[in-house]
Amino acid sequence: EGLFTYDPGFVATAATESAITYIDGAEGVLLHRGYPIGELAQHSNHVEMCYLLLFGELPTDQEYEDFSKTIRNHTMVHEQLANFYKGFRRDAHPMAILCGVVGGLAAFYHDNLDITKEEERRVSAIRLIAKMPTLAAMCHKYNIGQPFNYPRNDLDYAENFLYMMFGNPCEPYETNPVFAKAMDRIFMLHADHEQNASTSTVRLAGSTGANPFACISAGIAALWGPAHGGANEAVLNMLDEIGDESEENIQRFIDRAKDKDDPFKLMGFGHRVYRNFDPRAKVMKESCDEVLRELGQDDAQLRIAKRLEQIALEDEYFIERKLYPNVDFYSGIILKAMGIPTNMFTVIFAVSRTIGWISHWNEMITNGYRIGRPRQLYTGYTQRDYPAK
Ligand code: CMC
Repeated sequence: EGLFTYDPGFVATAATESAITYIDGAEGVLLHRGYPIGELAQHSNHVEMCYLLLFGELPTDQEYEDFSKTIRNHTMVHEQLANFYKGFRRDAHPMAILCGVVGGLAAFYHDNLDITKEEERRVSAIRLIAKMPTLAAMCHKYNIGQPFNYPRNDLDYAENFLYMMFGNPCEPYETNPVFAKAMDRIFMLHADHEQNASTSTVRLAGSTGANPFACISAGIAALWGPAHGGANEAVLNMLDEIGDESEENIQRFIDRAKDKDDPFKLMGFGHRVYRNFDPRAKVMKESCDEVLRELGQDDAQLRIAKRLEQIALEDEYFIERKLYPNVDFYSGIILKAMGIPTNMFTVIFAVSRTIGWISHWNEMITNGYRIGRPRQLYTGYTQRDYPAK
């Protein structure tokens, strides 16, 4: 009693020091290694951001060349992994498949698993960054019954992912530069977000000395939930559920979100840390407009999304509670417009967040750590006797 701080949900407990990402929720600021996310989204690309997050500095031209070449060298996955996929039902959720195959990577790449050696940690990090898009696209191809595509190293990171998702052996594949740019931005905007639930999970798993593939698999599991990475998928499911775009119907759902007796929440709204606006959402909204312009798309779900956003931004309930659209409100809409199936949205979040997870894991091992072991306030029975029979 009195020994522990009781902080459910960790709203006021720092579990670690970190020099990777800074967030000021009140001001809507997000910095990676000191650089504002808006500037990175404007001028950088995902591979360069991976270098920055992992190593702490932007690469020189030569360092960038070398790093991106190393990543390209690792994009293929062990051929036997295809069998792993085949053990799943065709209609398995791709997040379920991803948890399994990423955890399973340790069985294929156990040659560099001495986590006390910096060079070996680096190899595992590169393998994860390089292979995640391949593994993710394989989930989709397996679901739709098409052959897996080998990665194409002549394409850049985002282009290659889109190719592995949408290319097929019967037709020539053409990159759409607007889609590739939007995809790369989605990767960048989800790359890291300090001690969120999945990153904290990766650190906690890592604090036992578990191998990095196992730790990232734990992170993927934590990301899956609708309160976290599952939100982008949940946004589209919500738009589906709303269905009818009449004003009364949309208002009915807004009222449901405000009703404490109704579990319905406005998915893609609110954030534990951002209480002003989500700086990622601002950039994502721009991308969203670009993609929709390119497609000339005007569909009912998108109109519902726009209307929901408008109503919520003017509604006292949301204003008082500082609930704004978060990054996932717009990312879901972009992904849908590009033809990516809803069940792949969280998988794409996992591909993006892999660099954040592995950078935090590497930082923890580098800086030294103790096993993470939260305490509890026990509320059960005091000792009692086993009933006599
Ligand atoms: N719709 C309706 N009411 C909401 C919502 C929402 N989306 N989010 C929060 N509230 C209400 C909540 O009921 C509470 O009301 P009251 O004070 O009257 O009890 C108040 O706002 C404060 O919310 P909270 O539940 O204390 O906030 P939290 O920090 O515990 O939860 C959250 C943050 C993101 C889990 C939550 O806002 C939520 O469930 N949002 C929808 C899911 C979502 O979009 N998640 C993605 C987050 S961004 C991507 C990522 O990094 O994972």
